[in-house]
Amino acid sequence: MTQVDLSIPSTDPNMNLSTNLSTDSQNSVATPSHTPQLQAFRDVVESRRSIRRFTDTPIPDDVLVDCLRLAILAPNSSNLQPWEFYVIDDADNRKRAVKNCMNQNAAKTSARLIAVVARTDTWKSHAQKILREYPDKPVPKKVKGYYTKIVTLTFLRGPANVVSVAKWGATQAIRRLKGPIKSPYYTFEDTKNWATNNTALAAENLMLALRAHGFDSCAIGGFDEPAMKQLLNLGDDQHIVMMIGAGERADDGVYNTQFRFDQNQFVHYV
Ligand SMILES: Cc1cc2nc3c(=O)[nH]c(=O)nc-3n(C[C@H](O)[C@H](O)[C@H](O)COP(=O)(O)O)c2cc1C
Repeated sequence: MTQVDLSIPSTDPNMNLSTNLSTDSQNSVATPSHTPQLQAFRDVVESRRSIRRFTDTPIPDDVLVDCLRLAILAPNSSNLQPWEFYVIDDADNRKRAVKNCMNQNAAKTSARLIAVVARTDTWKSHAQKILREYPDKPVPKKVKGYYTKIVTLTFLRGPANVVSVAKWGATQAIRRLKGPIKSPYYTFEDTKNWATNNTALAAENLMLALRAHGFDSCAIGGFDEPAMKQLLNLGDDQHIVMMIGAGERADDGVYNTQFRFDQNQFVHYV
């Protein structure tokens, strides 16, 4: 075993981890001058399409479990993991979920139909869980402080948003007096955006993982959210970011040629 230190100097308490890698895995770890998975990665990304018609081939449970495992390896803010995945397998639930997806073929013909959910209420319990399950013992003081104080300050709104008002005032003052400061979250919508951003990254990982396993997917935003939430028994702090229909692509599963606008329209070097 050779030890390779992949740590990056950072203020993020989760970033100072060294990783033990065997020689084999070192050979597969990409560096700017050694890119053994680049073509495979391109193949996965470039062959992913939104598939609207799937075959009858099921997605084996172990494949789905691996794809979900890869999904939750998505980067996420402070490692607070504000996501959930509801795999709708029960026949009756599925029938109703397909109807809630406006009977779209991508849902109707899918082998698995998954609701990808962002949570606005797990930040506190997850912060505590991180400290309990932190892999590097003893838990560094900086990490403890981060998950007890900083995380609480970031999300806490208080009754009638009283904490938010104080946070807003303090943030403005610090910005004026000391310079840049990251705004904490003041409103429910701020926290919802935060959870949604994180969860969307996991959704993309899930779709790419399915592709790497030879399966396909379609993100579905065209669904009745209140009806789907009722079906899945979700509360006010659970937000369906998207539904994902998944399965093996049918020959007529791709509806149109893929195209994007010119990259230069979107990229700004400043
Ligand atoms: C958030 C989101 C919602 C989407 N909703 C739907 C949908 O309801 N029905 C559908 O057929 N495709 C849906 N799509 C797929 C897009 O139409 C598709 O990604 C886009 O046309 C580009 O095609 P491509 O994914 O094959 O590159 C959705 C995609 C995303 C990311």
